[in-house]
Amino acid sequence: MSPARLLLFLLPFLSFFLLRPASAVLCHPEDKEVLLRIKSSLNNPYLLASWNPNVDCCTWYCLKCHYKTHRVISLFFLKSNLPGQIPSAIGDLTYLQSLTLHKLSNFTGPIPESFTKLKYLNFLTLSWLNLTGPIPSFLGQLKNLTYLNLSFNKLTGSIPDSLSTIPGLGYIGLDRNQLTEKIPASLANLKGNSLYLILSHNNLSGELPATFTGVNFGKLDLSRNRLQGDASLVFGRNKTTFYIDISRNQFEFDLSKVDFNGSLQTLDMNHNKIYGSIPTAMESLQFLNVSYNRLCGPIPVGGKLQSFDYTVYFHNRCLCGAPLASCK
Ligand SMILES: *[C@@H]1O[C@H](CO)[C@@H](O)[C@H](O)[C@H]1NC(C)=O
Ligand SMILES: *[C@@H]1O[C@H](CO)[C@@H](O)[C@H](O)[C@H]1NC(C)=O
Ligand SMILES: *[C@@H]1O[C@H](CO)[C@@H](O)[C@H](O)[C@H]1NC(C)=O
Ligand SMILES: *[C@@H]1O[C@H](CO)[C@@H](O)[C@H](O)[C@H]1NC(C)=O
Ligand SMILES: *[C@@H]1O[C@H](CO)[C@@H](O)[C@H](O)[C@H]1NC(C)=O
Ligand SMILES: *[C@@H]1O[C@H](CO)[C@@H](O)[C@H](O)[C@H]1NC(C)=O
Ligand SMILES: *[C@@H]1O[C@H](CO)[C@@H](O)[C@H](O)[C@H]1NC(C)=O
Ligand SMILES: *[C@@H]1O[C@H](CO)[C@@H](O)[C@H](O)[C@H]1NC(C)=O
Repeated sequence: MSPARLLLFLLPFLSFFLLRPASAVLCHPEDKEVLLRIKSSLNNPYLLASWNPNVDCCTWYCLKCHYKTHRVISLFFLKSNLPGQIPSAIGDLTYLQSLTLHKLSNFTGPIPESFTKLKYLNFLTLSWLNLTGPIPSFLGQLKNLTYLNLSFNKLTGSIPDSLSTIPGLGYIGLDRNQLTEKIPASLANLKGNSLYLILSHNNLSGELPATFTGVNFGKLDLSRNRLQGDASLVFGRNKTTFYIDISRNQFEFDLSKVDFNGSLQTLDMNHNKIYGSIPTAMESLQFLNVSYNRLCGPIPVGGKLQSFDYTVYFHNRCLCGAPLASCK
């Protein structure tokens, strides 16, 4: 068979395979239009070079379509030089469930109000950007949110009460910002099974809300703020919290009276004004640091308490016993 005849013979088969992709564009035209608007509002950055209008948008980088509906459900811009502001057009990707903007150099400005249109949004991370302004209280309208991570920005103002109206919110990460004022008592409404509340490296002040007595945190990190008063209320015999860091604040309470549950693994309270003595229940801890407080009395013998480095105990009023000097 001559090559020409062979080609003629194969043509029907070839065309079947060649034409198939063209007839199977999955991308929803509304999503495609919004994505192209996002791209142009960012001045067609290199990160979005794959966003070619002649190609099915469900194959573009930095996004995912739903396997059945083919609507865009996930958008992620990671580690790139992407100067500009968060495009408000993102709010028109109505079916979005997950949005991650992380480590985009020179990305600044506020969180756009158009995000309130994202009724299906489950997972929101805007981290390591240079976002400024307050945490907008309209985020409370995202009723389907379970995970909120706004860490490493320059957000200011107080933590909005409205977050406590998101029924399934289980992870709140607002660490490394410039947040001020008290932690809202209403956050205790997020009682779920084990709330992750990460507020470290801010400028929060005042006392902890009394309502926290009733909250079973999974992980609680309040370190490096200006919080004061009684933090004993975050502990409790029936709480299954595994991680508590309240270090570098001005908390002042009697540690002897604190009740623990064996589930607590990590407890860091260094640099506060905590007094009293170390309770024997601390034997179950895998990591402890109570240095730079006002504790006194013998370190209980048991668990890992003697195998920790002496620096986890030093700079207290009169703690004694291994690994510190023996009690007189
Ligand atoms: C944020 O801005 C500062 C200067 O204002 C800059 O040094 C830093 O690299 C920026 N960070 C990001 C993630 O863009
Ligand atoms: C970020 O912005 C600053 C000031 O506007 C500019 O000097 C710098 O080159 C920008 N950095 C990048 C990586 O675009
Ligand atoms: C909330 O999210 C769940 C799980 O993704 C989904 O099944 C449900 O339809 C969503 N509800 C609304 C109102 O978006
Ligand atoms: C939240 O964001 C910070 C900063 O990007 C990151 O270090 C942290 O791991 C994130 N948290 C989770 C649970 O992914
Ligand atoms: C925290 O707030 C105090 C008092 O308002 C202020 O002096 C200090 O500069 C703030 N620190 C940071 C890191 O924002
Ligand atoms: C720890 O808390 C769980 C759940 O509330 C409870 O079932 C368990 O008895 C507690 N453990 C101790 C030692 O109190
Ligand atoms: C812990 O749970 C037990 C059994 O459910 C209950 O009797 C007890 O009052 C609880 N203790 C605290 C401090 O809540
Ligand atoms: C405990 O905290 C103090 C104060 O921050 C620090 O100097 C020390 O190294 C810490 N010890 C350990 C074992 O982490």
